[in-house]
Amino acid sequence: MIPFNKPHITGRELEFISDAVACGHISGNGKYTKLCHKLIEENWGFHKCLLTTSCTDALEMAAILLDIKPGDEVIMPSFTFVSTALAFVRQGAKIVFADSRHDHPGIDEHSVERLITQKTRAIVVVHYAGVATEMVTMMDIANRYNIALVEDAAQAVDSFYLHEGQSRVLGSYGVLSAFSFHETKNIQSGEGGMLVINDPKLAKRAEIIWEKGTNRAEFFRGEVNKYGWVDIGSSFLPADTIAAFLYAQLIEVKDIQTKRIELWNHYKRLFQDWDCPRIQLPFVPEYSTNNGHMFYLMLENIDIRQRLIEYLKANGALAVFHYLPLHLSSYYKDKHDGRILPNAENFANKLLRLPLYYELSFEQQELIVTLIHDFFEKN
Ligand SMILES: Cc1ncc(COP(=O)(O)O)c(C=O)c1O
Repeated sequence: MIPFNKPHITGRELEFISDAVACGHISGNGKYTKLCHKLIEENWGFHKCLLTTSCTDALEMAAILLDIKPGDEVIMPSFTFVSTALAFVRQGAKIVFADSRHDHPGIDEHSVERLITQKTRAIVVVHYAGVATEMVTMMDIANRYNIALVEDAAQAVDSFYLHEGQSRVLGSYGVLSAFSFHETKNIQSGEGGMLVINDPKLAKRAEIIWEKGTNRAEFFRGEVNKYGWVDIGSSFLPADTIAAFLYAQLIEVKDIQTKRIELWNHYKRLFQDWDCPRIQLPFVPEYSTNNGHMFYLMLENIDIRQRLIEYLKANGALAVFHYLPLHLSSYYKDKHDGRILPNAENFANKLLRLPLYYELSFEQQELIVTLIHDFFEKN
């Protein structure tokens, strides 16, 4: 069976974990956490980053840091993972869901401005499949209305926004940005994540929230002579053994990205050569790079998609779909304001993700495309 995902192991994970254990500091913020922070900040030029136990945690930190309170409104796409909304709902916010673009699952940047009210405190963009949201429009709206922009960059490691001949890394636009290192992501540590703090004014408090509401990080740097409870927070930091695993991945980021983009391009070539009018290929706008996170197809309807999933499974390959739009979820549908979001529903009904992981071979990809070809001959 060709799995949908297979977490890639670069080869040095156990060596670094052993070293972390030998160093005698395996709780959070040890040697490997600091190595990861330094590498990430240097590689992508972020002001500051903090490893977290998940992207969900990083988003929760963002909602706390922005002081989101009951009654505040937060705008975000409906076509996203639960965690994007959950972080803000936990603070008591009302979520105002925006539609996706018609050509891409990311937020329709032109639908956002009309959703803004006096109560809007934040806009969260999701760089779906590592493809950039249109950031010129989003930054302009956030600046004009003085609303915090947060990037859910769970899938967007090492992806860039292109504008006027310049490229700028995703995760560097929002006041705060959240990344995932879940095993389904390009760079992974099983579970894992990171909060990027681009507004220097939020950096000190971010560290306190990260360390259970204490100023322990300052104490360990020798900046204060005792530490204690100074704010709200939680235990958002991962053990140093997790950071050690992650470090083994981060030092191989170029190789991982190159390989995934090669696989993505191979799928694209195979489908373009076949040129099947019943399948739509993923669209990458001219303002975004592609980080090879996800290859998906848009099919004719939910029924064809279900039958194709079953056909692939019966013939040895696992393909999956996601997300159920959050405005239609059993938890939120009664709280949603009733607007229909047709593009989000279209992606929810027709999008199919194909296997894409480091060890996938060109031959396996060719087999998958042949199976899809056979399916359409018969259906
Ligand atoms: C867009 C988005 N946001 C947040 C998350 C949550 O990430 P994690 O599993 O690291 O908490 C995911 C997970 O896949 C995601 O796709």
